Amino acid sequence: MITNLQAGTNVHEIADGIYRINTPIALPDGQAFSFNQYLLVDDEPLLFHTGPRRMFPLVRDAVAAVMPVARLRHVALSHFEADECGALNEWLAAAPQATPLCSQVAAMVSVADYADRAPRALADGEKLVLGRHTVQWHDTPHVPHGWDCGLLMDVTTSTFFCGDLFTQGGRGEQALTESDILGPSEAFRQPMDYYAHAPHTAATLARLAAAKPRTLACMHGSAWRGDGATLLRHLGEALAAPR
Ligand SMILES: [Fe+2]
Ligand SMILES: [Fe+2]
Repeated sequence: MITNLQAGTNVHEIADGIYRINTPIALPDGQAFSFNQYLLVDDEPLLFHTGPRRMFPLVRDAVAAVMPVARLRHVALSHFEADECGALNEWLAAAPQATPLCSQVAAMVSVADYADRAPRALADGEKLVLGRHTVQWHDTPHVPHGWDCGLLMDVTTSTFFCGDLFTQGGRGEQALTESDILGPSEAFRQPMDYYAHAPHTAATLARLAAAKPRTLACMHGSAWRGDGATLLRHLGEALAAPR
């Protein structure tokens, strides 16, 4: 479903009750790129990352095409960056019952100050019941970047909201793919490496692989379905390879 013809914003259900909102953009060098947000519809609906502040009207209209915006209860973010939470306060204004959801470090260093309502900070491994779906927080400091970084797993559908992991260039016109995304995402990463390459990066990816996700809800490019544990292990190997 296209929700904005001019911008090309579109919405597709990629797992049970989980909707990918995709907006293609042109980078300054003319290459295509995309921003995705994910809406989990349940008793307590959750948005995983807000999109940039200037994109708020597009994302709001896309959410409104699926459910009333005011129903939103959780506005989650991986780490403090514009595409993660630039529109956070716009969302808090549009959804009076919503609160930010983030890591304890993100709450401490940024979100408690920046957000117009106090955040709910999740500890590593903490679970949150949204209704039919239960999500689990994973602290992933510096993976791919940011001391405050964490990622969310929907344990009910084995969908991993993997943020900037597996970032692919292009418009991401295919909502959900089963083709390789590691090759395209590595081709995108290598010229402008956005990973922190912290000492525990491989261990963090191995811990995420142990959760055996079946769907990867990527922030940039297509979402992916398949053996997520194997793909995460291969990502760890690619990052460990000499540059
Ligand atoms: Fe990021
Ligand atoms: Fe991002």
